[in-house]
Amino acid sequence: MRKPLIAANWKMYKTPTESLAFLRDFLPLVKHHTRDDIAIFPTMSSLAYVIEACQDTRVDVGAQTMHWLNEGPYTGQTSPTMLASIGCDHILLGHSERRIYANETDDMVNWKLKAAIAHGLVPIVCVGESLEKRQSGLTEAVLRWQLACALNGVTPSPNSPITIAYEPVWAIGTGSSASPKQISEAHTIIRHEVAARLGDEAGENTRVIYGGSVKADNIASLMAEPDIDGALVGGASLDPHSFAKIIQYAYSLE
Ligand code: 13P
Repeated sequence: MRKPLIAANWKMYKTPTESLAFLRDFLPLVKHHTRDDIAIFPTMSSLAYVIEACQDTRVDVGAQTMHWLNEGPYTGQTSPTMLASIGCDHILLGHSERRIYANETDDMVNWKLKAAIAHGLVPIVCVGESLEKRQSGLTEAVLRWQLACALNGVTPSPNSPITIAYEPVWAIGTGSSASPKQISEAHTIIRHEVAARLGDEAGENTRVIYGGSVKADNIASLMAEPDIDGALVGGASLDPHSFAKIIQYAYSLE
């Protein structure tokens, strides 16, 4: 019932030329793939090029961050209206690297989520605990807190269905993914919290995907879990064949 989403977060990798070279190889590989939604989140400088190259394909494109206001004296920022004006329709919010390196707070994630919904952008909201919090037994508390803040006062809209990405900080870029059991436990907590905040229907329909060292050789075991609705892939999405293989492993290419 929930269509899986396999998304690529390119972080601070790839020039426009490199992004287009990726797409030249990648797009033919997923041309007929309909089972999953596919999305790519390139850097801001590649965004318009990638959007144009993905027009009339099954691949959605989004930005990795944005401001919550439409315009203003905020050097270095990009607004939701600016993203929408170049045909960008997805947005990644609250990634732990933004929280850690750009001081993004839970409140900001909330403001950005409301702005995304107001502008019809499809948001992926990232949550996840640090190793320290997990070892202190605080995983559930962290996830509930991050979601309570992010979803505070949010009214869901059919134009902007919310996806939650569970990305435990300790599994990102380490080469060792969380186990399917750890992920399923976290996804159950996330789904309960979404239902508590946005209602049972939203709890049932919201996609909860996993990110953290997803690769071609572990995606099959992750996708076998009924609670895992897809993946947000960093390093292994940078190579077109590797990313296509992940999509292919998740569900066979038609
Ligand atoms: P890696 O797949 O490189 O661990 O990155 C995960 C991630 O942060 C996706 O947003």
